[in-house]
Amino acid sequence: MAKIIGVANQKGGVGKTTTAINLAASFAVLEYRTLLVDADPQANSTTGVGFDLQNITQSLYDCMANQTPAQNVILKSDIPNLDLIPRI
Ligand SMILES: Nc1ncnc2c1ncn2[C@@H]1O[C@H](COP(=O)(O)OP(=O)(O)OP(=O)(O)O)[C@@H](O)[C@H]1O
Ligand SMILES: [Mg+2]
Repeated sequence: MAKIIGVANQKGGVGKTTTAINLAASFAVLEYRTLLVDADPQANSTTGVGFDLQNITQSLYDCMANQTPAQNVILKSDIPNLDLIPRI
């Protein structure tokens, strides 16, 4: 069964993005199929797993604002088992 882990903190600069990226990569290396969802407009998780924002046309924003299905915006990262819903 799928599990969802949220990384959130009201304070800035406390390691939320670093934690999310490394937790996701660690699960992927352990061969769990992992989907990292970047919900932060800074898009640091998206760039952090290696994507160039210039090359991304659809993101979590489209899922929330335009009812685009999530599967349409999922990107495969270079790490096996690690996919991303980007934010731009
Ligand atoms: N466990 C850690 N030990 C030392 N430094 C860390 C650790 N985790 C993150 N950092 C550093 O702290 C800084 C802030 O981390 P990060 O960008 O992950 O925070 P954030 O909470 O996502 O920030 P923001 O609120 O801007 O989104 C970065 O320079 C990062 O390299
Ligand atoms: Mg962050």
